Amino acid sequence: MIRVLFVCLGNICRSPLAEGVLLHALRDKGLDTQVSVDSAGTSNYHIGDSPDPRTMRNARENNIILTSKARQFKEPDLEKFDYILAMDRSNYQNILRLDSGQRYQDKVILLREFDPLDKGADVPDPYFGGEDGFGQVFEIVDRSVRTFLDHLIERHSLSPSDGSTSN
Ligand code: 4NP
Repeated sequence: MIRVLFVCLGNICRSPLAEGVLLHALRDKGLDTQVSVDSAGTSNYHIGDSPDPRTMRNARENNIILTSKARQFKEPDLEKFDYILAMDRSNYQNILRLDSGQRYQDKVILLREFDPLDKGADVPDPYFGGEDGFGQVFEIVDRSVRTFLDHLIERHSLSPSDGSTSN
C-alpha cells in the first residue's frame, strides 16, 4: 500500500479537497486498494470539523463527496506516510520543522510540484476570500492531483487489481 497525506493549515478547505479528488480518481481507475489517502492540518484550529461548506459545495458540484473530519498533522505522520503533499510553503516549512532528525525530508513535497501550469507555486488559501477562490482552488487541486496520480502510476507501475470494474 502506498500512503499519501495532503496537508494544509486548517484541514477544512484545501487538503480535504485534494484527498477527495485523489480518492475519486483512484476509484475510477480501480487503484483504491493500492493507494490510501488521508489529510491533515498543521494548525489545531478546526480539529474534528467537517470541511468548509464552500469546499463541500464546490466538490459536490464536481461529483466529489467529502466526508473527512479535520485532524492535526503530528510527528508520527512523517514515518507513516510515503508522500506528504503540502499545499503551500508555510505548511511545507511547518511539516519539515517537526522532522527533527531530518530523516523524512524527501517525502515532503509541494503539491504544485505536480502542477503542469505553474510548477512549485502555492495553492492559495481560500478561507478568507470569496466564493471565486474556491472554484480556482478546485481547478488547481484537480489538475495537480491528477498529474501526481499519473506520477504514482508510472513510478510504482500500478495497474488495476483483479476484480476491478473500472475501464
Ligand atoms: P485550509 O484553509 O488550510 O485550506 O483548510 C484554512 C482554513 C481555516 C483557516 C485558515 C485556512 N483559519 O484560519 O481558521
